[in-house]
Amino acid sequence: MKFDVLTLFPKMFEPLNESIIGRAIEKELININIVNIRDFSNSKHKKVDDTPYGGGSGMVMMPDVVYRAFKSIKAKNSKVIYMTPQGIKLNQKKVEELSKQEHLIILCGHYEGIDQRVLDKIVDEEISIGDYVLTGGEIPAMVLIDSISRYVKGVLNQESIKEESFTNGLLEYPQYTRPENFEGEKVPKVLLSGHHENIEKWRREKSLEITKKKRPDLLE
Ligand code: ADE
Repeated sequence: MKFDVLTLFPKMFEPLNESIIGRAIEKELININIVNIRDFSNSKHKKVDDTPYGGGSGMVMMPDVVYRAFKSIKAKNSKVIYMTPQGIKLNQKKVEELSKQEHLIILCGHYEGIDQRVLDKIVDEEISIGDYVLTGGEIPAMVLIDSISRYVKGVLNQESIKEESFTNGLLEYPQYTRPENFEGEKVPKVLLSGHHENIEKWRREKSLEITKKKRPDLLE
């Protein structure tokens, strides 16, 4: 899976080099290429934004600069996603669907946004990570990359995908590890029994119970 990210703030993506995603990059299971939109400005001072026509506060990213950045990485099989609170809200189903793509170009806006003309020209899909407004699309882009990369073969062990929250429509059962007795609180007995069928059954019941309590909407 290849990700190209178009951004004015490449350094914001450094956290992706850590932990599971960092290892997936090292193993070349995923490829994340960060493109600095500013490099595609033709002006002397590398200008990338200007005041909005019609007035109003803030700055708008210029269409020609964004378009040149896009053209530098566009391939036949690319899908362009624009991170915006106006997009459709990301969920596990959408993540799984996008993980089947070969090449995603993720466009991150900043300031008041991006000139509508270039969005109309290049964007295939708009995605939001929730009904709140962030200062830019960079953190949402990282959320998208992280959630999709988990589906790429070899990034996680396949069991953890099957067992996790949302994948089967339910939340995950609780987990325990050593010590067996923590401040007087014991690990549920069934988990020490070694009886796999009973453990399975207990976990399924707990999943259902937790979903009923915390996210009853998932059962509707
Ligand atoms: N950019 C700013 N806020 C956002 C959000 N909630 N989702 C996606 N992109 C955004």
